[in-house]
Amino acid sequence: MTDLLILYSTTDGHTRRVCDVLATELERLGNQVTVADMLDQPQPDPADFDKVVLGASIRYGKHARVVSDTIARRLDALQSRPSVFFSVNLVARKPNRNQPDTNPYVKKFLAKIAWRPDHVAVFAGKLDYPAYALTDRLVIQLIMWMTRGPTDPTTVREFTDWDQVKAFAGLIDGLSAGA
Ligand SMILES: Cc1cc2nc3c(=O)[nH]c(=O)nc-3n(C[C@H](O)[C@H](O)[C@H](O)COP(=O)(O)O)c2cc1C
Repeated sequence: MTDLLILYSTTDGHTRRVCDVLATELERLGNQVTVADMLDQPQPDPADFDKVVLGASIRYGKHARVVSDTIARRLDALQSRPSVFFSVNLVARKPNRNQPDTNPYVKKFLAKIAWRPDHVAVFAGKLDYPAYALTDRLVIQLIMWMTRGPTDPTTVREFTDWDQVKAFAGLIDGLSAGA
């Protein structure tokens, strides 16, 4: 049985939800899955697993610092086993911004890191105006206004395509553990 680690970085919990859907699907496909926050102490070591998934959300244009720190610290283990990365952000709700080579954050991020994951996915995130602090809400409303998204402050909407998430699980399952 393949022992698989999913490490995530989240601020409001949506990336964790994506991980839970991935884990459920991967378990259904016969994998043994461990899901952990990158901030957990101690952080599970990717070297102890057959395959590794790293997932992180975007906040103000960037993934959290712990993401690049984890990649740098675990680089050898990530490079020497099947490994994948996914990013969660709201720009990815746009069809022309939902691929690793069309999503501006992911393009920039991949150019900065030494890790070369076997696959990269970009998932659209969740918009939850009522949960945001006032300044955050105003900034997101401005971004949404500029990109023709919802600006009504009562909006709560999940843009995530859960079929895309499940398809990504299938792709991870298909990676050969000896690759
Ligand atoms: C304060 C704040 C800043 C954000 N900045 C961006 C951004 O710059 N670009 C973007 O596409 N999405 C942005 N988002 C949207 C998040 O990436 C999206 O809500 C995601 O689902 C959050 O995932 P998480 O709950 O795992 O942190 C932002 C959200 C918040 C609350």
